[in-house]
Amino acid sequence: MTRLAARLGLELPLLQAGMGAVAGPGLCAEVSRAGAGGTLALYREAPGRAARLVREVAAATGRPFGVNVVPEVTGPAGCLDQLRAVLPELPRGCFVTSFGLPDTDAARAVRAAGHPLVVQVGTPADADTALGRGAAVLVLQGTEAGGHLLGRLPVDLLLAAVRARHPQAVLAVAGGIATGKDLAEAVARGADGAMAGTLFVPAAESAAHPKFKRRVVEAVADDTLITSLFDIGWPNRPHRVLRNPLTGTSERAPATFLATTRVDGRAYPVPRYSAAAPSEATTGRIEEMAMYCGRSCTRVTAPHPAAVTVARVRLEYERAHRPPRGSRQLHRIQER
Ligand SMILES: Cc1cc2nc3c(=O)[nH]c(=O)nc-3n(C[C@H](O)[C@H](O)[C@H](O)COP(=O)(O)O)c2cc1C
Repeated sequence: MTRLAARLGLELPLLQAGMGAVAGPGLCAEVSRAGAGGTLALYREAPGRAARLVREVAAATGRPFGVNVVPEVTGPAGCLDQLRAVLPELPRGCFVTSFGLPDTDAARAVRAAGHPLVVQVGTPADADTALGRGAAVLVLQGTEAGGHLLGRLPVDLLLAAVRARHPQAVLAVAGGIATGKDLAEAVARGADGAMAGTLFVPAAESAAHPKFKRRVVEAVADDTLITSLFDIGWPNRPHRVLRNPLTGTSERAPATFLATTRVDGRAYPVPRYSAAAPSEATTGRIEEMAMYCGRSCTRVTAPHPAAVTVARVRLEYERAHRPPRGSRQLHRIQER
């Protein structure tokens, strides 16, 4: 039991990242039922639909789960609208995760509703600010991570810097976590647990497009790169994606529509260079879209049900903590 697991009521100190186009109610509920921190991505969801999705998860699991907001994308007013819609639906013991700093109103709304606030940051200065706004848990994102990047430090340097400033804070790391051994090593370096995104993209319950899932399974770390290319809808934030035909050319093509995503029966056109990732509801030129993926993909294998992935991570984590056979026997002899 780490402080992260104790604080959020989890059996394993692992959070599944809220991921737009990937982490819908199915993935969130399955991960939560398996004892880890399943999280529902709200990304750009309209408040009414967001509330409906939260009710769907709450009906499917009695265990704690999270809802994830991205204030930088929704803007402060949009974020508050989403929170006002979902907080009354969120069962006791569930938590809210924010990608980047929530403003003081958003942070206050989460705390006033009695839910732990989990804030993902990428710099020591933002870690200080997040704690000042009442974050119960910090997620420290390193540059190994898939998706949009909040800082410029590799995860171990960020962890060391923040742990030195805040010895008592509950700290999870994000970036580079795909196995129980990765998790145990992060805990040995001073983390209280971790958040993983890429690990869950290929899960059976993930809403990612099948081509996206396949590419994550096949990829190794060097098939990913940090770029600022996919900036339509989310500007000024570098992101780690899988290499594709667009990342390989220096000239920018016109931002014409290359795909369509359906939400609640409505079709939304996707321009070239859109920040939107391809979901199972997307049709078109999938291979030219932003497929967010972390360097941990090297250790992400076949697509399994999320519960199998969580069970495997748990087993590997427990094994990594268990002392080797010889030392256990020695211990028993010493006890006699
Ligand atoms: C496909 C994908 C989509 C993501 N979307 C979000 C998001 O909507 N909200 C969020 O807080 N983080 C998002 N992230 C970033 C994660 O929070 C986290 O930093 C990252 O997954 C950790 O690195 P890893 O992918 O190597 O495990 C996304 C990551 C990926 C891979």
